[in-house]
Amino acid sequence: MPMDAERSLQSAPTETSTRQVAAAPIQLGEDRWKAIVEQVKDYAIFMLTPDGFSASWNEGVKRVLGYEEAEFLGQPGWYIFTPEDRAAGVPAQELATAARDGSCNDDRWMFRKDGVRFWATGIATSLWDDAGGLIGFTKVMRDRTDEKRHDEALQASEERLGESEHRLLTALAAARMGTWKWDILSNQETFDEGLNQLFGVGPSEQLKTLEDVLRRIHPDDRDAVALAFSHSAGTGADLATEFRVVRPDGAIRWLRDHGKVFYDQQGAAVSMAGACVDVTERKQADEQLRQAQRMDAVGRLAGGVAHEVNNMMTAIIGFSDLVVDTLDDSDSRRGDLNHIRRAAGRAAMVTAQLLAFSRRQLLQPRVLDLNLVINELQPMLVRLLGEDKQFAAHLQPSLWSVHADRGQVEQVLINLALNARDAMPHGGRLAIETANVTLDDAYATRHSATVIGRGAFVRLVLSDTGGGIPEDVQSRIFEPFFTTKPVGQGTGLGLSMVYGIVKQSGGFIWVYSEPQQGTAFKVYLPRVDTPADSGSPAPPRPAPRGRETILVVEDDDMVRPLTARLLGAKGYTVLEARHGLDALESLRRNREVSLVLTDVIMPEMGGAELARRLAALYPELPVLFMSGFTDDEIVRRGLLIPGSPYLQKPFDVHTLALRVRELLDARAEKSPLSP
Ligand SMILES: Nc1ncnc2c1ncn2[C@@H]1O[C@H](COP(=O)(O)OP(=O)(O)OP(=O)(O)O)[C@@H](O)[C@H]1O
Ligand SMILES: [Mg+2]
Repeated sequence: MPMDAERSLQSAPTETSTRQVAAAPIQLGEDRWKAIVEQVKDYAIFMLTPDGFSASWNEGVKRVLGYEEAEFLGQPGWYIFTPEDRAAGVPAQELATAARDGSCNDDRWMFRKDGVRFWATGIATSLWDDAGGLIGFTKVMRDRTDEKRHDEALQASEERLGESEHRLLTALAAARMGTWKWDILSNQETFDEGLNQLFGVGPSEQLKTLEDVLRRIHPDDRDAVALAFSHSAGTGADLATEFRVVRPDGAIRWLRDHGKVFYDQQGAAVSMAGACVDVTERKQADEQLRQAQRMDAVGRLAGGVAHEVNNMMTAIIGFSDLVVDTLDDSDSRRGDLNHIRRAAGRAAMVTAQLLAFSRRQLLQPRVLDLNLVINELQPMLVRLLGEDKQFAAHLQPSLWSVHADRGQVEQVLINLALNARDAMPHGGRLAIETANVTLDDAYATRHSATVIGRGAFVRLVLSDTGGGIPEDVQSRIFEPFFTTKPVGQGTGLGLSMVYGIVKQSGGFIWVYSEPQQGTAFKVYLPRVDTPADSGSPAPPRPAPRGRETILVVEDDDMVRPLTARLLGAKGYTVLEARHGLDALESLRRNREVSLVLTDVIMPEMGGAELARRLAALYPELPVLFMSGFTDDEIVRRGLLIPGSPYLQKPFDVHTLALRVRELLDARAEKSPLSP
C-alpha cells in the first residue's frame, strides 16, 4: 500500500466509517422516507398508479405545481400537461415508455394549477413488484423556467449576434474590406475571409505573423508599413497607412489600412486590430487626374514658349524670303539663306506642334466623315509604312460624323502610323478601325469620370503588332519631348500633338499595350448629328499677286514691317497701324483700303474689337486675323470671333499671299461694283 494512502487511513477514521455506512442498505421505515420526501420543496416528487392517477404528494408538488395534498391525490396525472401535449397523447406515451424502458426523461412545458406554464425537467420511473407486476410510477420534476428563459435569451442573442455578424461580413465584402488582428506579444496575425481575399491568400494558406504579411506587400511599401506598425505598437497612435499588395498571380491592389492598439490592465500594448479597404480604383482615378493636370501645366508652359518664338520665326522666315527674292539665281548666298529658311521652318514646326499639344492652335473644324478622311489618306499611309508592313482598314459603314479640323485629324493619323512603323522595324501589320460607340456610365466609372465623357462617340483605333510600350512608360508617352528613340530620330512631339488635337476636338485618347504583342491607340471623338461636308480641300495654287491697298495692324515692331514688305513684294500698297485705334484713324484718312490684316491681341484695341467697329463703319471691308497664339480661351472671351478668316503665325509669303487673295476675290464676287 502506498505511503499516502496508509497515512490517510490512519488520520481519517471518520471517512472510512461513513463509507461503510453508505455501503450498507438503510432500513428506513416507509413513514420516515415519506416524511423526508414530503419536505423536499424544490422538486415535485409523487407517485402515480399504473393507470396514471396521482397517489402521493410532497411540498414540492405544492410549490412547483400549485396543488394542496387533498386536491392532488387521486386526480389524473395528465392534469399537469399542457392542452397541446394532452391532445397529442403525451401523458400516456410517457408512462408507456417508462413502463417499457424503466424510465422516461421528461423536459417540457408543463401546466400549473393556476394555468401558468413552466419549464419542467423531470423523470418518470416505473416501479415493479417481485412478481414482475407494475406497481406504479414515481415522478420527479423541477421548475427550470428561469434557466430555460436564460438559455433562450442567450440563444436569441447569439442568433442576433450571428445575424449582425452576417450583416457585417456582407457589408465588409460589399465595401471590399477585410479585418485583421495582431497579437503583439505572440506576433500572431489573424485575417478574416475578406482580408484573405484582398491579399489573395488561398484556402489552404495562412499568414501567421507580421513578417508573413509584410512579405505579401510590395517591396517599395514594405518598410513604411513595418514602421507604421511598430510606431503604433510603441506609441499607441492609431494606425493609418496605404500600401500595395502583390497577389500570387502578380496583380497589384492598393489597400488603405486603419488600426487601433489595445492594452492590458497594466497599460501595456498587447494587440492591434483594424480593417483594410481596397482603394485601387480611387488611386487609379487620382493618378489619371494628376496626369491630366501635369499635361495641362506642361501645355501652358509649352504654349507660352511657342507663342514667344512664333513672332521671331515669322520674322526670320519672312526676311529670308525677302532677301532671296533680291538675289540672282547664281548667287551662292541663296544656298545659305535656304539653310536659314529650312532651319526656321523646322523650328516653326516644333512650335506648331507645341501649340497643338497645348490646345492653343486655332482649329478650323468641319463636319467630317472619318472613313472618307482615312480612305483619301490611305495611299500616303501605305507608302509611309513601307513594303514590309501590311495595312488593313476596317471601317464601319454609316459611320457617325464628327466635328474636327480635317488637317489635324490627318496629323493624328500620320503620327500614329509613323509611331507604328517605328515600332515594327522587322515588319508587321497596322490596322485602322472605325466604329460608332455609346459610352455608358459604367465605362466612365471604370475610367476616371474627370478625364472622359459619356455619350455617343466615333471610335478610331490604330493597332500595330510592334514591340509594345512598357507599363511604366505608358504614363509618359503623351508628354512633349518624351521619346525613347535615339537622338535625331524622334523629338517626342508626335503624341503630344495627337493628344492636344484630340482634346481640343472634345475627345479623348487611350493607349493599350502589351509588351511583344503590340499597341493600340483608341481615339474617341464626339458624334455630331449634321451630315459630313463632302469633298477634300482645294489643291495648292501658285502665290498670287495684287494691286489693292492693305492695312496691316500689328503691335510687334518686327512682324509689322515684315508683313508690309512681304505684301509690298506681291504688288500691294501697304499701310501700317500699331493697334485698333491707330487703324481706325488711318482708315478715316485713307478710304481706298480693300482689306485689313490684323493681329488679335494688341494694346489700346485688340483685333476683335476693331473688327466689330469696322463691321459697323465699313460693312464691305474684309478682315483677316493673324496670330501665333489663339486658344479656346481667346475665342470664349470674344477676342476672336469663331469662324473668322484666320492666318496662323508663323506664315510664309506664299500662305500670306494666298489668304489675302482669297478674301479679296470673295469680296469682289459678292459686290462687283466696289473698288
Ligand atoms: N505604336 C507604338 N509602339 C511602341 N511604342 C510607341 C508607339 N507609339 C509611341 N510609342 C512610344 O512613345 C514615345 C513617344 O512617341 P511620340 O510620337 O510622342 O514621339 P516620337 O515618335 O519618339 O518622336 P516624334 O513623333 O516627335 O518624331 C516613342 O518614343 C515610343 O517610345
Ligand atoms: Mg512619333
